Amino acid sequence: IWKRSNAMKKLLSVCLGNICRSPAAEGITDKILSDRGLHSKYQLDSAGTSAYHEGAPADGRMMAAANERGYSLTSRSRPVRMSDFDDFDYLLAMDENNFRDLQDLAKTDEHSKKVILITDYCKIHDRRGIPDPYYGAADGFNYVIDLLEDACGELISQLESH
Ligand code: 4NP
Repeated sequence: IWKRSNAMKKLLSVCLGNICRSPAAEGITDKILSDRGLHSKYQLDSAGTSAYHEGAPADGRMMAAANERGYSLTSRSRPVRMSDFDDFDYLLAMDENNFRDLQDLAKTDEHSKKVILITDYCKIHDRRGIPDPYYGAADGFNYVIDLLEDACGELISQLESH
């Protein structure tokens, strides 16, 4: 019991390109953990179901919106790898396509159970999936942050409550 309750929790945020939503999820969760004094208990990373943007930093528009609200996004895009299913405790899918893609990659029940849809944790917002802001309007980036603050804040609360 001691070991389990003190073990690092490892969270991987996953979207399509790993340049907008999942870097934001990672940066927002990082700030939530710092604010709550939980930083040393978690390990965070993010990845994409595609390799389109491999090596790229977060999208400039996503970065600007995040900075404006007090978050810094430092990730470089990388594709999901099979070892992620063993290396992480939870794979946080940003939308239902990401969820399906991850479930298709999962090889075992244990892998499959690690995949969750991040908006299932939203307490304030009622929405399935974080909408892809890449081709949308500028306010889409702020909406991504609104949803993620809600979802990631509640996810951490729930992980800390048991
Ligand atoms: P993300 O947004 O999945 O939130 O990183 C996207 C970024 C790039 C593309 C699609 C979504 N793209 O098609 O290039």
